[in-house]
Amino acid sequence: MRIPRKIMRLCLTESKNRLLVKDKDRVDEYGEVFTPTPRVLRMLDEIYDDLCTEGHTVMDPFVGDGQLILPVAIIKQELRHTENLSTIYGVDIMQDNVDECRKRLLDVCGHTPENIAIVERNIVCADGHRYHYRFDGTDPYKTLDDLQNEGLWEGGL
Ligand SMILES: C[S@@+](CC[C@H](N)C(=O)[O-])C[C@H]1O[C@@H](n2cnc3c(N)ncnc32)[C@H](O)[C@@H]1O
Repeated sequence: MRIPRKIMRLCLTESKNRLLVKDKDRVDEYGEVFTPTPRVLRMLDEIYDDLCTEGHTVMDPFVGDGQLILPVAIIKQELRHTENLSTIYGVDIMQDNVDECRKRLLDVCGHTPENIAIVERNIVCADGHRYHYRFDGTDPYKTLDDLQNEGLWEGGL
């Protein structure tokens, strides 16, 4: 199945007028160039059957302002999935991107107390290379115990 045109139009409208580059320093330092929505839609078209499955989770470890996950939220919203925001996750190192991403998701799904709690838990400001990906509100980075449990640290200093 392909993404219906009506949903594509909603995604394009939601992202209309958004800047893909904020400034040159951020591009140089963080590689911050956001993906244009038409390109995002072409990618999501490839996995549309998965997105149609209730509860299918999507995570972007370098989420930026949410260019990739906003269309996912809109698709789930249009499909009337009962689990929408709770199945979408993102991490970014820049707090302003995290704030913007959360706001965009809430603008689509509703600024309810429940949704606010979900985006605060699921959209995290952290280094995506080091985050533990538990999305549980704990300190974002792995402890020595975590590393030992995963066999990545043999103990001793
Ligand atoms: C190329 S943009 C992509 C953003 C989004 N995924 C998109 O497709 O529009 C890369 C993003 O990664 C973030 N970033 C750079 N280094 C990071 C790191 N170590 N951990 C998490 N995010 C990082 C930047 O702030 C930027 O928002």
